[in-house]
Amino acid sequence: MDRWVDHPQVIFFRTLFRASRTLTVLWWGLLVVGGVLPAVFAVASGSLIRAVEGGAALRGPLAVIGIVFVSMQVINPLHEAMGQLLGRRTSDHMNDRLIRAATGPPGISHMEDPERANDLSMARDFDLGITGPPLFVAMGFIAGGLQPLLGGLAAAVVLFGFTWWAPLVLVAGWGSTHLLLKESGVWRDRNTDEVRTAQRHADYAYSLAVDAPAAKELRLFGLGDWVVDRFAERRRRLFELYWEATRLRERSVLSSLLAVSVANALVFWRLAAAVADGSIPVGDAVVYLMAAIMVSSMAFGALSWALDTSAAPAAAVDRLVALFAATETLTAPSGSQATGIAPSGPSAGAHTIEFRNVGFTYPRASGPVLSGLDLRIEAGTSLAIVGQNGAGKTTLAKLLCRFYDPDEGLIEVDGRPLTDLDLDLWRSRVTAVFQDFVRYELSLRENVAPLGAPDEVIRDALAAAGADGLVSGPHDLDTPLSKGYPGGIDLSGGQWQRVALARAICGVKLGAGLVLLDEPTAQLDVRGETEIFRRLLEATSRCTTILISHRFSTVRLAERIAVVEGGRVIELGTHGELMALGGRYETMYSLQASRFVEVDAMGEEMVYDRLD
Ligand SMILES: Nc1ncnc2c1ncn2[C@@H]1O[C@H](COP(=O)(O)OP(=O)(O)O)[C@@H](O)[C@H]1O
Ligand SMILES: [Mg+2]
Repeated sequence: MDRWVDHPQVIFFRTLFRASRTLTVLWWGLLVVGGVLPAVFAVASGSLIRAVEGGAALRGPLAVIGIVFVSMQVINPLHEAMGQLLGRRTSDHMNDRLIRAATGPPGISHMEDPERANDLSMARDFDLGITGPPLFVAMGFIAGGLQPLLGGLAAAVVLFGFTWWAPLVLVAGWGSTHLLLKESGVWRDRNTDEVRTAQRHADYAYSLAVDAPAAKELRLFGLGDWVVDRFAERRRRLFELYWEATRLRERSVLSSLLAVSVANALVFWRLAAAVADGSIPVGDAVVYLMAAIMVSSMAFGALSWALDTSAAPAAAVDRLVALFAATETLTAPSGSQATGIAPSGPSAGAHTIEFRNVGFTYPRASGPVLSGLDLRIEAGTSLAIVGQNGAGKTTLAKLLCRFYDPDEGLIEVDGRPLTDLDLDLWRSRVTAVFQDFVRYELSLRENVAPLGAPDEVIRDALAAAGADGLVSGPHDLDTPLSKGYPGGIDLSGGQWQRVALARAICGVKLGAGLVLLDEPTAQLDVRGETEIFRRLLEATSRCTTILISHRFSTVRLAERIAVVEGGRVIELGTHGELMALGGRYETMYSLQASRFVEVDAMGEEMVYDRLD
């Protein structure tokens, strides 16, 4: 930490204030009052004793003592409740900030940045009670640590009435425990990679054990004990690191004892002497005695760990928000510069796409994925992209959606640079099935049209995707697509893929002009895939369609085919042209066809017939 404003505890208190100004001010106010009241009580006791000694009226001093005493009883529960409220507000505020920072940027480089994993679990899980008490509970511990500290200081102020050096000596004595014992009480090392890694491993083992997706393999491969052992071992490692970092260090304990003993001996010896020679009256002596004892409450205690546990996630959220903002690389034109999109070409609504010498490297990646890529796709035509795993096919789709911008070259839409178009408007013109499409735990209707569409449109889209079976029988558009909800159903991988296809087709019906299909049928059988593709190309015939697939039986349904290799397009043409060329496409096609011959020998005639 170079600057004090960057200290996690400073960030924490700033976060409290940002979450709720009123509550924070009230919380501090009550904290101070609650801290000072014991000292006031001591002073009031002194005036009562003096009144008794001097035979004066007791009503005044008694009333003050009564009020102070009742206030002391009332303030703590009030402050506790306020702390809980403030804690919950602050949790909300932190979650809110994180969600906004994650969803806000137009690109996705910040979401794919490996750096974020370090802070993310701390920033996200802080309120689950795994790494420490949830914030609304921790607020009580923090107050419980701060209040005695203030109480001790307030009591010390009272001692100035006795002699100027007594409060200084006592505060120095008790205060030194904070310096001397800090190392042993605070887990300073909690942000080291070692701790974070142990934490992540423990969390991962935990989620493997309790989340549904891993249940099948855990049982089949007999991994149950392995997961438990792994969790226990990583947690133990975490605690070992903790104990190592916080175990009491003998020498600092001895020095603390010495400092505290000397300070107290000095003050109490002087006090005793003053009482003995009668230089201070008994009433005052009682007040100073009480105050001198009360200073001890400022000793090093539970404050540090509670504050540290709560401050770490607040700082993590700050770091993430900054990281997210810094990794955003899109150069979005400001409102006035951005231009709209006018449909062009023979098929109104479709777009002509052109990649000109496009080069792209992922942030923090060692080498480029694409370099010198040229490709033109006429409006209203379909193009299939083939290439080996990692060739950059998905990356092409991401660039077209402007999740990233190319580092070199240009992508043009209808002759205009993509970066000049209004981003939201452009995205409303694109629809897609991504390779890792989302299975929304929502109703079928919301899965097909998350932002809503007429029922007719949704049903048509489902039919075009061959998923109309889902709305027959007992199910309808409102059926939740997860068993976790009442009346919900679980879908197979293939069924989910049809739902994702329906979502893309629905996008076309709502006006999209560019369709991106990134291995959209990988989980369907070959027969289902061909049938779907015929219908899909029909449904998207008005659009420019880009299809990424490994299966040549579907690839050849596209009007043209591009082979991507080494970051560029190495072959481009119709199926017939590329076969005649006898290049990479022909090799890959023949390889796959010969594999199907074997499959054919096992009885799947359909496949062989179609490829032949
Ligand atoms: N977010 C990312 N950060 C860094 N490298 C990535 C990222 N996404 C993909 N890559 C890398 O870029 C290359 C191309 O990936 P991708 O476009 O997904 O290939 P394809 O879809 O053709 O299989 C691969 O080497 C992959 O590891
Ligand atoms: Mg891919």
